[in-house]
Amino acid sequence: MAALYWNQRQDKPQEEERKRGMKALHVVGARPNFMKAAPVYRAMAQAGHEQTLVHTGQHYDALMSDVFFEALEIPAPDESLNVGSGSHAQQTAAIMSRFEPVLLKRRPDIVLVYGDVNSTVAAALVCAKLGVRLGHVEAGLRSFDRTMPEEINRLVTDQLADMLFTPSSDGDENLVREGVAREKIFLVGNVMIDTLVRFLPKAEQLFPELKKKLSVDRYGLVTLHRPSNVDEGAIFLPMLEVLSELSRELPLVFPVHPRTRQRWAAELEGAGPGLQMIEPLGYLEFLALQQHASVVITDSGGIQEETTYLGTPCLTLRENTERPITITHGTNLLIGRDWEKLRRGFYAALDGSRERKAPPPLWDGKAAERIAATLTK
Ligand code: UD1
Repeated sequence: MAALYWNQRQDKPQEEERKRGMKALHVVGARPNFMKAAPVYRAMAQAGHEQTLVHTGQHYDALMSDVFFEALEIPAPDESLNVGSGSHAQQTAAIMSRFEPVLLKRRPDIVLVYGDVNSTVAAALVCAKLGVRLGHVEAGLRSFDRTMPEEINRLVTDQLADMLFTPSSDGDENLVREGVAREKIFLVGNVMIDTLVRFLPKAEQLFPELKKKLSVDRYGLVTLHRPSNVDEGAIFLPMLEVLSELSRELPLVFPVHPRTRQRWAAELEGAGPGLQMIEPLGYLEFLALQQHASVVITDSGGIQEETTYLGTPCLTLRENTERPITITHGTNLLIGRDWEKLRRGFYAALDGSRERKAPPPLWDGKAAERIAATLTK
């Protein structure tokens, strides 16, 4: 069995650790991790800490992974675990067994995990078993829906973490209610918004070219990938039909996630000319399209946040959200599977003038700096 861990050892003089800076190890694996880790990696580098980047390989297609490293200016991973796809148990187990030796070899002072994907919970479990200090970035979010795989990942990761960095105060409240000690919780703001703020000007430069390429002027933007929406025909096909109907009013650009394309390639092709299916987009291109869309229809978590910041109306095809602040402070409307509500929200977005609300507190582009400062302290 692996030796119990070095963080508990008394023989490492704290003074020495302070002088050399901290050794932080970041674990990323799936597309939504990359934009969260990028600003933290940058802020930690600026604070003079030594860093290792581990990519589990949960997402491996160039369009789901490599293009984000390039656009977000993240260095190539120091370690790639190449786990690929599989059932949840297979994927989680593969990450755990491949991550453990890396952790034993690299011996970081802290591991940072991001968001709520399988890579997050798998790395968190390995850290907990070895007694490695664990920080969770984007802690405390809850949909209160345990049929959602990400909710399980969030609950478990937060129970195991030593430092919990929350994006909004509802996260703090959820954690305290679950018995997490207040001194472990740090309200730092939203690191996704750090990345958005940094890259929006660059994204804007791409927009004219992109618009030409897609041959659109006014348009809506669609993304769908949640298993609860796309895995079963009884649910997905009526959804596609309504989208096809709406696309006769306003062209809808739909970058299709591999999960969705694999199941519904033929049906997607037959959905009518207004629904423009394209390959997954890079970070900058997608951000530019969000900024200028008349409306976004999605089941993503991060997109609810980005549209809130941008002031773009967002119609979320889910019954619940772990990001309620996007409703109270933002542009998000939960639609569930109420197609009348979707139509109403859609036409209201087309008719309405956009009011720019102030972004939620601490969504200011400086969340990662606050994380680095907390860790340095
Ligand atoms: C994962 C996350 C989800 C996140 C989403 C963003 C979990 C439980 N889910 O869902 O929270 O919102 O990423 O994209 O971690 N595939 C490819 N190429 C790839 C990656 C996946 O073709 O690079 C296909 C495979 O068939 C795979 C399927 O997509 O089985 C699903 O991938 P997986 O990583 O299991 O979950 P996502 O649906 O992407």
